[in-house]
Amino acid sequence: MTSPVTSPVTSPVDQNPTAPLPASSASTQPGEGVVPQFAPVPQGRPRRRYAVVGTGHRAGMYVGALVGEHADVGEIVAWCDPNPGRMDYYDGVVGQAQGLDGAAGLPRYAPDGLEAMVAEQRVDVVVVTSLDRTHAELVDRALRAGADVVVEKPLTTDAAGCRRITTAVAETGRDLVMTFNYRYAPRNSSLREVIASGRIGQVTSVHFEWALDTVHGADYFRRWHRDKANSGGLLVHKSSHHFDLVNWWLGDVPARVYASGALRFYGDKAADERGLGERPARGTGTAGDPFSLDLTADPRLKALYLDAENHDGYVRDQDVFAPGITIEDNLAVLVDYAGGATLTYSLNAHSPWEGYRVTVNGTAGRAELEVVERGFVEVDEDGNAVLDPSATPGAATSDPLRPEGEHLTVQTHWHRTEEVAIPAGIGGHGGGDAILLKDVFRRDLRLGEDPLGRAAGHLDGVRAVAVGIAANRSLLTGQPVLVEDLGLGVDLRDGAPQAADAAAAGAPA
Ligand SMILES: NC(=O)c1ccc[n+]([C@@H]2O[C@H](COP(=O)([O-])OP(=O)(O)OC[C@H]3O[C@@H](n4cnc5c(N)ncnc54)[C@H](O)[C@@H]3O)[C@@H](O)[C@H]2O)c1
Repeated sequence: MTSPVTSPVTSPVDQNPTAPLPASSASTQPGEGVVPQFAPVPQGRPRRRYAVVGTGHRAGMYVGALVGEHADVGEIVAWCDPNPGRMDYYDGVVGQAQGLDGAAGLPRYAPDGLEAMVAEQRVDVVVVTSLDRTHAELVDRALRAGADVVVEKPLTTDAAGCRRITTAVAETGRDLVMTFNYRYAPRNSSLREVIASGRIGQVTSVHFEWALDTVHGADYFRRWHRDKANSGGLLVHKSSHHFDLVNWWLGDVPARVYASGALRFYGDKAADERGLGERPARGTGTAGDPFSLDLTADPRLKALYLDAENHDGYVRDQDVFAPGITIEDNLAVLVDYAGGATLTYSLNAHSPWEGYRVTVNGTAGRAELEVVERGFVEVDEDGNAVLDPSATPGAATSDPLRPEGEHLTVQTHWHRTEEVAIPAGIGGHGGGDAILLKDVFRRDLRLGEDPLGRAAGHLDGVRAVAVGIAANRSLLTGQPVLVEDLGLGVDLRDGAPQAADAAAAGAPA
């Protein structure tokens, strides 16, 4: 038998630059048991051929992995995006990694050429990192063209997208990997271990509060995400991470959902009410406004968006107080789980600090996870938000009253609170991205099953967006929504195809 190897960590940290980079993202030495073990690549085995569809910001993580740590198991063979400027950018990244004096010159396709790309470039796997509303169509077409799929969250934005994807998976029998990176953040894995160990007994309820600050939270109101038709709103785009965590922590599926929320802080109406007055239409070129993002301040943002604007007119730095925002910024959701537990969830997108709190109540006690990712948003002397205090001389990096960090505690009845040690992770998103990438690219070389069951597929993707889709419907109707009435195409409990008439009966889009 071959000896296990753990390869060095070279995958890039690839978070949205407005997102906080918590200390756990910077560690390079993972804690015990955090990184799975993989066998060496069998000699002479051909690399899998990957195409990246949607060459924006998030694609960078996969591109970096395939020209770096995972170049021995996979190679990028083509791009697919409507915007040639962004494909140019990544062609340059690959060319540089290959030591070429210029771009790699990989074949490139517009979205309507996806099938031709799969056939002509003999693509094994399509990585879908396009905007959310396009996922269902692209996943369906890629599977039917004969490729496996790796898709970013959210799986899709609506019930019709769920039906389309579940049908395509069932009819093609092909593989779909859903990349839920938050599961791989050690703090979230540790909470799953606590619950699975039975220490707090049977779970009766979960309270989950997520706070996005005025830098990272604001970013959703500048970009395509601000239009609900593109993203499904934050309940689908962002909270699908959180709902997946709860589904996975409990090993359960959502059954009934009630939601309340609105756009109360961002947007032109709120700006009028607070008398904000005339504002610049975009952040680039604006100084002294902590809600603005100047694309020229970050070479990658400039190359991917500002320099590519002439191709499609997409403006990535729109004013967060401008008209046209159709998503909410304050949200509360109540979810009844099939197994009997209740989730109370809230999301706020204009908090002065960023992080989350989870309380899990059980018949034997409770577990609590508290995470501060950014203690406060510093504003420099010119009035601009400081994105990376560690790179700004004189800027504070931590708030003593709200120190950045993570705490997991367990308290059982009639006992004092105990701290649960969280092992160090590696890479972005709380230490989740780099470990996720190993599971995505080397899954077939894994030594042993993952006791945490972190790898996710299409059913997990449907279960996660089911809550947001139901919540969006509840926001419209003011009524609780039964998940089984959504017509998602599968029974969430076991993945069995849902009868066609049930799927069609009153199913919202
Ligand atoms: N897991 C995470 O933590 C995480 C983090 C960031 C983004 N994401 C996800 O990654 C995806 C991309 O987000 P992003 O931040 O990179 O956005 P982006 O705007 O930077 O990139 C989206 C890209 O998709 C392209 N595109 C538009 N229509 C297309 C079509 N029909 N076919 C192919 N490409 C098309 C755009 O031109 C753009 O290049 C989203 O689904 C997002 O939810 C996940």
